[in-house]
Amino acid sequence: MISLLKAPHPLKGNVYVPGDKSISHRSIMFGALAKGTTEITGFLESADCLSTIDCFRRLGVHIDHTIRPTNGVPKITVHGNGLHGLTAPSRTLFTGNSGTTTRLMSGILAAQPFDCNITGDSSIEKRPMKRIIEPLTQMGADISSIMGNDCAPLHINGGKKLHGINYRSKVASAQVKSCILLAGLYSEGDTVVYEPALSRNHSEIMLSAFGADIHNEIARDGSAAAILHPGTELRGMNINVPGDISSAAFFIAAALVVPGSELVIKNVGINETRAGIITIFKQMGADITLENIKKDGEPTADIVVKYSELHGNQNGIFEIGGKDIPTLIDEIPVIAVVAATGDFETIIKDAGELKVKESNRIDSVVENLKAMGCDIEATDDGMVIHGGKPLQGADINSYNDHRLAMSFAIASLAANGTTRILDESCVNISYPTFFNDLQSLI
Ligand code: S3P
Repeated sequence: MISLLKAPHPLKGNVYVPGDKSISHRSIMFGALAKGTTEITGFLESADCLSTIDCFRRLGVHIDHTIRPTNGVPKITVHGNGLHGLTAPSRTLFTGNSGTTTRLMSGILAAQPFDCNITGDSSIEKRPMKRIIEPLTQMGADISSIMGNDCAPLHINGGKKLHGINYRSKVASAQVKSCILLAGLYSEGDTVVYEPALSRNHSEIMLSAFGADIHNEIARDGSAAAILHPGTELRGMNINVPGDISSAAFFIAAALVVPGSELVIKNVGINETRAGIITIFKQMGADITLENIKKDGEPTADIVVKYSELHGNQNGIFEIGGKDIPTLIDEIPVIAVVAATGDFETIIKDAGELKVKESNRIDSVVENLKAMGCDIEATDDGMVIHGGKPLQGADINSYNDHRLAMSFAIASLAANGTTRILDESCVNISYPTFFNDLQSLI
């Protein structure tokens, strides 16, 4: 448990957040499937990404993990085995708390010549896997839920010949899309994944840089398509992982809830499929500017954020929904915290996916904001926040969900009294130095 108090003064200064989690996972996975070496700078050394390294080591991939003596920055070298060079693991692959590892690896494993089992912690064993079992089965894979509940542990019978499919995903999910595309690398014929709105496209961008023939398109009916023509080899490359906008989100929010604050969050990935938090905070009146924009592969920028009084639209209501949701799905807990401090109503809708994240993030956000005195109610696909009531310190149940723990650490900065966050060590999943970095600003 950690005890936190209201911020005693404005937050000022520069912040560096650790590397992007989604990009770090993919750099290991694609590096492992490539021929030659992949050097990764800025890799996120958090529990989730270390699970991915561990799984690939168990599949026979040699991965060096060192620290550059010159600047103390981690350097990861993946000695790729090529698409067909993985070897059977001696036991069940364990993915920890990582949905990305579980789902993306399943796409790769479905196409291997060997059998294997894959599972993760108790949270992973509750998260829905039917969404990947179904399309992989359509591709000719033999993958099943061992307990018969459509969740991990999953068993995969290897040696199946896969074929490409045109798949319409009901949800905009980069994990589902990437899982299918990775199986598609091994399939006969093209694989096309349609989703209702474009989810984060790091797989498409990075696979293309590794040499795959893959691109995104908007289909005639408005859905987003990712199209893969298999048959090209992946080649190892150097990857610079930008700062994670999902981690930067906590400092953007911190500056918006502590009057007088001004923070610069350096070198953050601003891929438009991830940057919805910037768009919607700006629509709420936040003073956020991007400086030092670079577009080398994944776009990056320094995010300058100044405390601002936020507002709803003309009728005092602010709505977040539709195609914006996938661009800010992981940031909704901290957006809800900021919305609670504003003197207007915020409606978050079309976000039923929150129920199947590391915790049920509709219930866990609503319960904890209520405990802090916020007038808020859960809906079927989101929540309604009647902002403006002063927040009070409370005991926060993190439900072992890293983003919950960090979001409520930000709420504490604006709350009267003491906020105590239970099981705060779950921040190790995506941001092990979070509390130190936050403390350094206070
Ligand atoms: C991720 C995709 C998203 C996101 C998760 C990381 C990824 O999940 O919530 O934190 O790296 O592909 P979904 O694909 O389930 O939406």
